[in-house]
Amino acid sequence: MRHDHLITSKQLSRANIETILDYAAELDADPSAVSDRHAGTVLGLLFFEPSTRTKMSFETAMKRLGGDVVDMGSVESSSVTKGETLADTVRVIEGYADALVLRHPKQGSATMASEFVDVPLVNAGDGAGHHPTQTMLDLYTIRENAGLDDLTIGIMGDLKYGRTVHSLAYALTNFDTRQHFISPESLQLPREVVYDLHQQQDGTGIREHESLEDVLPSLDVLYVTRIQRERFPDENEYQKVAGEYQIDAATLEAASDDLTVMHPLPRVDEIAPEIDETDHAAYFEQAHNGVPVRMALLDLLLSDDGDAGLTGGDGDE
Ligand code: CP
Repeated sequence: MRHDHLITSKQLSRANIETILDYAAELDADPSAVSDRHAGTVLGLLFFEPSTRTKMSFETAMKRLGGDVVDMGSVESSSVTKGETLADTVRVIEGYADALVLRHPKQGSATMASEFVDVPLVNAGDGAGHHPTQTMLDLYTIRENAGLDDLTIGIMGDLKYGRTVHSLAYALTNFDTRQHFISPESLQLPREVVYDLHQQQDGTGIREHESLEDVLPSLDVLYVTRIQRERFPDENEYQKVAGEYQIDAATLEAASDDLTVMHPLPRVDEIAPEIDETDHAAYFEQAHNGVPVRMALLDLLLSDDGDAGLTGGDGDE
C-alpha cells in the first residue's frame, strides 16, 4: 500500500491546507469525538535533535486519537552511537510503528529516509530545510487571529537557517499575502528560496528589509524567530548578529493595535516578556495549536486508503 510522506510545505496546495485547518478546528472544538479512532496505532518518534513542542505535541496528538508512541529516545542512548545509518534506523523502526516522525540536523534527511520506508514519514525539521507541521500550526494561528487572505506579514530574524520560515513562506504563496522579510544581510533568506517565492507569487508580494521600523505599522502579523546559534559554522559570525532584532513594548508602540506577534519558540531574548501579557502575543496559543493540527494531520495520513492526498506538489526538497 502506498502511503503519503509529509516532507515540505511545497507539497501542500491551498485545498490541502484548508482541509487540514478545517479538520483541526473541528478537533479543537471536540477532541473526544476521535478518542478511539486510532486505537492500536503506534507512532514512531525519531528525534536526532532536541525538541520540546514538536515531540510532545505529536505524542499528545497520537494519544488523543487513541494510539500510542514508541520513542527512539536520545541519540546518545540509541544504537546511532554504534554507527547505525539513518536508512537502517528508519527501516527497523517502521517494523515497530504505523507512521514515523523524524527530526534530524541534516537538510534533506527526511527525503532520503522516506525513500526507505512504506509507512508515512513526517518531517519534523531537517536542519535548515523545512518544518511543514510547524507551518500548519502557524497557518492555523494566523487564520484564527488575522485571516489568511489580504494578509501583510513580517517574518524577522534568522531567515537563512530558519526552517520554520522557509516552510511558512512557501505555504503563504497559496494565499493573498504580502511577505516582508526582515534580517541582517548575513541571515537573509537563501537566494533559491527567494527565487522560488517570486516564481510562485507575484514578485510584488515579496520584500526584503534590514530594519523593522519602516514596515511595522503596516503589519497584521509579525513572526519573530530565534537566531539559531547551533546552525552557525563559525561562532564569530553568530556573535556579530546575536541580540539583533529584539522587540519589546516600546518597539510595538509603532504597530497596529491589532498586530499579532508569533514565534515558533523556543525564544531566547527576541521577544521581551512584557509582551506576553499583551493582546499582541499569540506564541503560546500557537504552540498549543500543535495538538489539534497534528491530530488532524495524523488522522489524515493514517486513513485506511493510505493516501491523504498530500503528495500532489513538489515534495523532493
Ligand atoms: N517550534 C519547534 O519546533 O519547537 P521544538 O524545537 O521545541 O520542537
